[in-house]
Amino acid sequence: MFVNHNSAFLNDIVKLLKVKPNGIYIDCTFGCGGHSIKILNNLSPKGRLIAFDIDPQSVILSKYIINDKRFVIINDNFSNLEFYINKFSLFNKINGIIFDLGISSYQLDNPLRGFSFKKNGPLDMRMNQNIGIKASYWLNNASKVNIYNVIKKFGEEFFAKKIASQIVFERKKNKFRNTMDLCNIINKVVYCKKFYKNKSTRTFQAIRIFINNELNNLKKGLNSAYNILSKGGRLLVISFNSLEDRIVKNFINYKSNYNYSLLEDLPLTLNQIKKFNFIKMLNLGKFKPLYKDILLNNRIRSSILRLSKKIV
Ligand SMILES: C[S@@+](CC[C@H](N)C(=O)[O-])C[C@H]1O[C@@H](n2cnc3c(N)ncnc32)[C@H](O)[C@@H]1O
Repeated sequence: MFVNHNSAFLNDIVKLLKVKPNGIYIDCTFGCGGHSIKILNNLSPKGRLIAFDIDPQSVILSKYIINDKRFVIINDNFSNLEFYINKFSLFNKINGIIFDLGISSYQLDNPLRGFSFKKNGPLDMRMNQNIGIKASYWLNNASKVNIYNVIKKFGEEFFAKKIASQIVFERKKNKFRNTMDLCNIINKVVYCKKFYKNKSTRTFQAIRIFINNELNNLKKGLNSAYNILSKGGRLLVISFNSLEDRIVKNFINYKSNYNYSLLEDLPLTLNQIKKFNFIKMLNLGKFKPLYKDILLNNRIRSSILRLSKKIV
């Protein structure tokens, strides 16, 4: 079977999810299917894997998983997870859920998708090209303040103000069409100290996050994931930027929030013990990619994996 060897933490997810042969698993971000295949390879004929991807191209890609009754893929946003799991009557029956956020190599490497600042192509950036507005349309029409806010908030870009001003200035002469139109503008106003970082990295990230409403989808997806997991079910999230990771970290902390300082007061009073009822998940830790894996695939260098387990 085809395996996408570029997937982050590919060799760890089965162990971290503690995949049970007869279990029911969800891959919220099928992409090229690297993680899905790993899970399927560890399921018995009774196990089940439900995959999601918002990109219709990923669903087409999944056709290499032929005649596997254990597998189903849904072309929708993972923020609608609960709707489908309700429909399948699988609420509280899910043993493990994985989110591998962002875009796949397949999407990034295709210039027609407009995600890459290294290849010229239409400035689209939609994960599903049938839904929403293209990045070029937004850049040609949004106000300067709006553009500034997006680049600042979702790209944490120091030069956001200069970039927004330059965009509004240049679009009066020429409308934005291609990725290089945007790169040329960024190159004019951004000064980058780190030679390994492309000047366009932060702005492209910001516009992509905005166009696809990524952070709101993530918040919704995480809450839904918690709701549908079984007791003991595991949640594994791989993020690629600090904004995503902060959301995941805060979510896990909130669900696993307990006051360690209570443990210093043993024995506990009844009221103190009651506070433990608020613990809904266990935080099982944070993992970074191994150096040897980064050497094989440089794109995973910024990835962070967070693992947690539902207990209530
Ligand atoms: C990093 S890739 C996943 C790679 C995959 N794990 C693999 O091993 O090949 C992320 C995928 O998630 C999809 N995606 C991102 N946000 C999504 C969302 N809100 N709902 C559904 N799919 C989403 C993207 O279209 C992309 O295909």
